[in-house]
Amino acid sequence: MWKQAIEDAVSKTRYNIERFGDLFPHVSTNGRYGLNENTDWTNGFWSGMLWLCYEYTKDDVFKAAAQRTVESFRKRLAENVVLSHHDIGFLYSLSSKAQWIIEKDESARQLTIQAADKLMERWRETGQYLQAWGSLGDENEGGRIIIDCLLNLPLLYWAFEQTGEQRYRSTAIIQADKSRRYLVRGDDSSYHTFFFNQETGEPIGGATHQGYTNGSTWTRGQAWGVYGFALSYRYTKNPLYLETSKRMALYFIKNLPEDYVSYWDFNVPLSEAAFRDSSATAITSAGLLELLSHLETDDSDRVLIEEGLSKMMKSLVENYSTIDEPAAEGLLKHGSYHVRGNIAPDDFMIWGDYYYLEALMRMEKKSKGYWYE
Ligand code: GLY
Repeated sequence: MWKQAIEDAVSKTRYNIERFGDLFPHVSTNGRYGLNENTDWTNGFWSGMLWLCYEYTKDDVFKAAAQRTVESFRKRLAENVVLSHHDIGFLYSLSSKAQWIIEKDESARQLTIQAADKLMERWRETGQYLQAWGSLGDENEGGRIIIDCLLNLPLLYWAFEQTGEQRYRSTAIIQADKSRRYLVRGDDSSYHTFFFNQETGEPIGGATHQGYTNGSTWTRGQAWGVYGFALSYRYTKNPLYLETSKRMALYFIKNLPEDYVSYWDFNVPLSEAAFRDSSATAITSAGLLELLSHLETDDSDRVLIEEGLSKMMKSLVENYSTIDEPAAEGLLKHGSYHVRGNIAPDDFMIWGDYYYLEALMRMEKKSKGYWYE
């Protein structure tokens, strides 16, 4: 089943190269991806899909298209186009870092180190965190950290490995520790974001951006936590990160509905005809593969996690993928971007497609993704 799903994804991605040209897909409306000129936080996912397809097929069509995206990312960094946010790791891990991993291209390595420097500009010395959005001192956003940022930390850990400069690694560790302390709750659920007093660094409290309420658990936030802490463990070997990833994973699995694909928030009342977020389940699936790669073979939770992974992926392929719709642009239906904001509440999300394909590739041992070398 996995191989057939990969073949379908590769064929759709091949077709999309022509459809999208030099533009980048983001989320869909009525089944058609909205395209932009590399100006959003999501553009790395298209690049990553092209690199995954290239690794799988060794077809130069994918390589050439992927390389073109990296040139676009080079221009974006040189011209500083919409880069004043924490999402730099999503953008450059899957584009230039992927190119470095696959081709050992020196200019791609240099570009990725420059991207890590860009991410370091989010560091706020007083509060000791990476600010999610907005400029330094922004009245509303200056004190906010976000759980999604855990997937941006591998760029910093990697930059340390490449340069030997400790500042990248220590920043990532402080951010991971702070995320663990303030974003993960005692019952292993999570806040989407958390505010600190930007003048004193004192904690204020949790808040959501895309979730149901400030105290609820946005499923995609939980997914970023599962994968992000497993990756921080890979780079640091701090067992607390592994334990946190595992606990968040168990929370995710135990709170799934019958078909093993998450609604958009774990606390949304189902009487509200809740939307799913298939992308959260795809991210978590890829994260579970990372987590499982670090668990002892006799870990008492291994079976539950393996079974959860298998049921989630099977349901994604059978009930949420476009495997039976050859003309579809996207791979995974029923993702949600921002339900309360009414932005793509039930559509294709390019990151859903990316993590679905990454998980399939990891299961078939065709690629390990690009979060680490
Ligand atoms: N990182 C933004 C999102 O997950 O929607």
